[in-house]
Amino acid sequence: MKEFIKYLDWVIYQIYPKSFCDSDGDGIGDLAGITEKLDYIKDLGVNAIWLCPIFKSPQCDNGYDISDYRDIEPVFGTMRDFENLVANAKKRDIKIILDLVANHTSSEHFWFKEARKSKDNPYHDYYYWAKKPLNDWTDQFGGGSAWEYNEQTDEYYLHSFAVGQPDVNWDNPKVRQEFCDIVDFWIDKGVDGFRCDVLHLISKDFKNDLKWFGPHFHEYVNQLFGREKSKNLFTVGECYVDEKQITELCGEGRGELKSSFQFDHIFIGSKGRFAPIVTSMNEVVKIFDNWEKVTQKLDVLYPLFTDNHDQPWYNSKFGNDGVKRFESATALATMFFLGRGVPFIYQGQEVGFANSEYGDISAFDDIETLNFYKASVGKIDDKTLYKDINFGSRDNSRRPFAWNGEQGFGFTSAEKPWLPYATRSDRLNVESDLKNEKSVIKYYRDLLKLRKEVAAFRYGQYKSIYSDDGFIAYLREYDDEKYLVVCNFAGDREVDLGFKNKKLILTNNNAILSIKKDRFVQYDAAVYKILDE
Ligand code: GLC
Ligand code: MG
Repeated sequence: MKEFIKYLDWVIYQIYPKSFCDSDGDGIGDLAGITEKLDYIKDLGVNAIWLCPIFKSPQCDNGYDISDYRDIEPVFGTMRDFENLVANAKKRDIKIILDLVANHTSSEHFWFKEARKSKDNPYHDYYYWAKKPLNDWTDQFGGGSAWEYNEQTDEYYLHSFAVGQPDVNWDNPKVRQEFCDIVDFWIDKGVDGFRCDVLHLISKDFKNDLKWFGPHFHEYVNQLFGREKSKNLFTVGECYVDEKQITELCGEGRGELKSSFQFDHIFIGSKGRFAPIVTSMNEVVKIFDNWEKVTQKLDVLYPLFTDNHDQPWYNSKFGNDGVKRFESATALATMFFLGRGVPFIYQGQEVGFANSEYGDISAFDDIETLNFYKASVGKIDDKTLYKDINFGSRDNSRRPFAWNGEQGFGFTSAEKPWLPYATRSDRLNVESDLKNEKSVIKYYRDLLKLRKEVAAFRYGQYKSIYSDDGFIAYLREYDDEKYLVVCNFAGDREVDLGFKNKKLILTNNNAILSIKKDRFVQYDAAVYKILDE
């Protein structure tokens, strides 16, 4: 049996700790807050949690700048809080996945503080240094050159992201050993896997594009995760793979990663981060269908996702977050999460959270957004500027989670949260959603229950029926069972799906029930069991 089959039973919920639930009233989410909400997570039908970085960090990039990989960031709590979270999660059969940031550390990490002191410091070689910048790479946050001058050694160091995030030198065997030790430390604490932050960048080729898989990439990943102790971890790379790379990296027996994200369905919506491109769900259904077919043929584990902490809400960008918010959010979930692969739900996606409208830069925190603002303010009119920022900012999905409509939205008892609330929190929150006849959360529960109960949705073959004109129909087949998933993201239509004898088992539009023909209005989703033909 394929090694990855067992992961098809997993449903992963991504948590952004700063914004999930604040237990101690300092305006910042924390580990104890997450522990409080485990029943909510469990009730959704989730069985694994991926925590964005919880380690000690100056927070110049919200925890992706780590100053101690073996300690918990004090605003999130203590090691005891972490152990408590793990124990309570395990009690509920929920697995824990941590975020491994291996491409860079914080400039406040002990290694870097030593490294920058002198060329003969034992840690100097833990980072990349050069007398002059080796190329014209710019940092990924729009902050300018990726090379920063260090006075003590009269050299430049490389930072693919912020100045406070120096890239570590993976060509140094000591660095590779350090990361193996860090992984082992957390295995011993009971974690089940890692989401690997920009792992594709660890092997550098200074003459090429930064994003290229460098010459030793596979070798280094294998050293990290192909070991006896680490080989059974669930690992998913943020590696921006194409079809060839996903097999090379996630193929059975390679001892590298179990899976990796691709971003085709994300990138089609904008040019860079802040400039919208006119696109349609037609592109999205085609990309979804293509990756399902490709990963099935290649026999690799595919991560099913639309949202994460680096993107504005998918439903705001590609769907409808206005009058058809419920229908659109649930149709997206139906298409993606009944597919072949492992579902990743980002906190709040299951409530149908939506982008915010702000017109003041003080409402933003994300370094990339602030860089964009600095570079653009005065050059384009304010109206356009804030339109672009509200469209693309990562802060959209990072705003405090709204649990109810009260003061603090059930997120915090503090007067002010670390980042202003989403502008529609009074209407878009867990409590009001659950009261709604059309509840996104309840639909997610039904959807995940279906996935759990029907083996075909987990292990079944994916068979494409139709994917064009913003309309998708696919089958999942397992043993003698057949299920049909239909989602219509475009105009109203009547279609002949060709299966006369079928039973509707899930829909986001109960009107379908009274219709004899296969008629779908925009954002209808319907799931059928195919009966004997
Ligand atoms: C990844 C993270 C993102 C972070 C960056 C640098 O893309 O998801 O949030 O800013 O890496 O670590
Ligand atoms: Mg707190």
